[in-house]
Amino acid sequence: MRITIRDFQKMKKDGQPIVMLTAYDAMSARICEAVGVPAILVGDTLGMVVQGYDSTIPVTLDHIIYHAEIVSRVTTKPLVIGDLPFMTYSISPEQALTNAARLMQEARVSCVKLEGGEFIAPTIERIVKAGIPVMAHIGLTPQSVNRFGGFRVQGRELESARQLIRDALAIQAAGAFCVVLELVPAELAQLITEMLDIPTIGIGAGPHCDGQVQVFHDILALFWDFFPRHTKRYANIGEQMQAAVAQYLDEVQKKVFPTTANSFKMNAEVLKILQEEVNSRESG
Ligand code: KIV
Repeated sequence: MRITIRDFQKMKKDGQPIVMLTAYDAMSARICEAVGVPAILVGDTLGMVVQGYDSTIPVTLDHIIYHAEIVSRVTTKPLVIGDLPFMTYSISPEQALTNAARLMQEARVSCVKLEGGEFIAPTIERIVKAGIPVMAHIGLTPQSVNRFGGFRVQGRELESARQLIRDALAIQAAGAFCVVLELVPAELAQLITEMLDIPTIGIGAGPHCDGQVQVFHDILALFWDFFPRHTKRYANIGEQMQAAVAQYLDEVQKKVFPTTANSFKMNAEVLKILQEEVNSRESG
C-alpha cells in the first residue's frame, strides 16, 4: 500500500519528519524505495540535472510524464508526486485540470505539484475539487527565476514575508494537502509551519519545517562542481563515476580490459570445424 496524503497529515500531527527526495528514473526510484523514503517528487529539476538545461523552464509535460511513469511503475510504497511544468497550469484552471489529469492517468502519480501562492489558489481549488491532490510550492519558485532575477532567498523583507504568509494561507484554504517552502529564511518557515494545519516541506528553509525535500543528484554530489548551500553531500558519487570512466578508457586503450575473465569460450569441437572450414575457404 502506498503512502497517502492522509499519512502526511498524520506525520505532521505526530511530529514525525516527512522525508522527500526527487527521482527521475528506475535506479533513483528503486534506491528511494529500498531505504524507505516515503515520498518521491518527480520534479522539473530534471530539466537541470538530467537534461542539462540551466533552468526548469524548457521542461514539458511529456517529459515529466515520461519520467514519472517510470518512477510510479518501479515503486510500490512511496507517495509519487508529479510536477506540473512551466506554463502547463498558469493559463487557466481548466488548462491546469486537463494537464493534472494527464499526469495522473498517463504517469499514474498520486498527486501533482505546482508553483505559486495567492494568485494560483483558484486553480488549486479547481484541481482539488476534481479529485486530484495538490502540493503547492512557494518562496523561490524556480519557474519564475527570470522574474526573481536569479535563484535568491525569498521573504527576507517585511512585505515579501507578509506576502509569503498570505500565500501559504491561501494555498491551504484552496485545499492543497502540503506546501514546499523553497529558499525561505528559517524563522519565516517556522512561523508558516506553526500557522498551517497542512505540512510544510522545506528546501533551503531551515530545520523547523514538517519535512525536507532534496534533489537526488545534489545529496550524492553527482555534479561535483556545483554545490548549493541548502544541500548536503552524503557521498561523492560524481567524482567516483568520473574516476571509473577514466579507468575504463585507459584500460581499453592499453588493452588491459577485457581479459579472458570477461570473455566467453566456444565449444572446442565447434571451433575446430569452423577453423577447418575457414582454412579450406582460404586455400580454395
Ligand atoms: O522540481 C523539483 O525538484 C522541486 C524541488 C527542488 C522542490 O521543485
